[in-house]
Amino acid sequence: MNTNSQGYHLQTDSHGLQKLVVQSDIVSGEVYLHGAHVSAWKPAGHHPVLWMSRESWFEDARPIRGGVPICFPWFGPHPTDSSQPAHGLARTRQWTLTNVRRCDDGAIEVWLQTSVDPFQLSYRVLFGADLILTLTTKLPPTAAAPQPFEDALHTYFHVAEIQQISISGLEGVRYVDRVPQVEEREAAGTVIRFGQETDRIYRNSVETAVLHDPGLNRKITVGKSGSRSTVVWNPWIDKSRRMPDFGDDEWTGMVCIETANVGSDAIMLQPGQSHTTQAMISVSHGSE
Ligand code: BG6
Repeated sequence: MNTNSQGYHLQTDSHGLQKLVVQSDIVSGEVYLHGAHVSAWKPAGHHPVLWMSRESWFEDARPIRGGVPICFPWFGPHPTDSSQPAHGLARTRQWTLTNVRRCDDGAIEVWLQTSVDPFQLSYRVLFGADLILTLTTKLPPTAAAPQPFEDALHTYFHVAEIQQISISGLEGVRYVDRVPQVEEREAAGTVIRFGQETDRIYRNSVETAVLHDPGLNRKITVGKSGSRSTVVWNPWIDKSRRMPDFGDDEWTGMVCIETANVGSDAIMLQPGQSHTTQAMISVSHGSE
């Protein structure tokens, strides 16, 4: 099917999953209904910004590897039940596409929703010169009791070479180190550079993170609201080999900067309350 005059169309991919493909003068992108998974975003004049694994599964019961999985209502392993999937249920749910609109400036606005008992989720994806991801979680007024949740917009970025990039903005923030597991490390005081497996949860932090990529001569800025955690992850060599849906050599070309509320930053909702987590991603030429 060709892109219609509005700049978007639904397509069934070669694996049988449905995705919305958007295209305008200023942007191209894709979002799957499976997981409300944004799998591509490319503003005009830039290389693709999001990374996708060539080994990703595209199956109903499994998450897509790359792009922006939504982790919800827990992050990482389930706290008490190891039979539950990592990173929660939202990323393998079928979402409903409720609205699509082409804005005057050529941006395309997409709305999706689903529910993960007892929560109702709505997700707005604005594909434009910037990518704005807005996840709203509501606990219905009929809910029996307050409920906590964790969330993460688990964004995978394409980089030229992991050992040449840096991430600034989090120099003054303490973090949980998951390699090895250390509950709280002092703020590093320096930009993040990568020379080994890195899996960190920066806590109690509203800071904007900036990814500097001299190899692609670009800078990616990840601003946020409604988020007090930022997760930074690269699996490096051994963990890449252990992940069946991740190419052995692919760790060199990606990094995750995740806009999140996890661990001690988890959100507690009262019946009738809602919370919105938003990531605002922009890209510019020049890495400094
Ligand atoms: C990151 C976690 O957010 O996601 C890592 O910090 C984890 O520990 C990674 O390995 C990928 O998780 P998954 O479930 O998609 O393989």
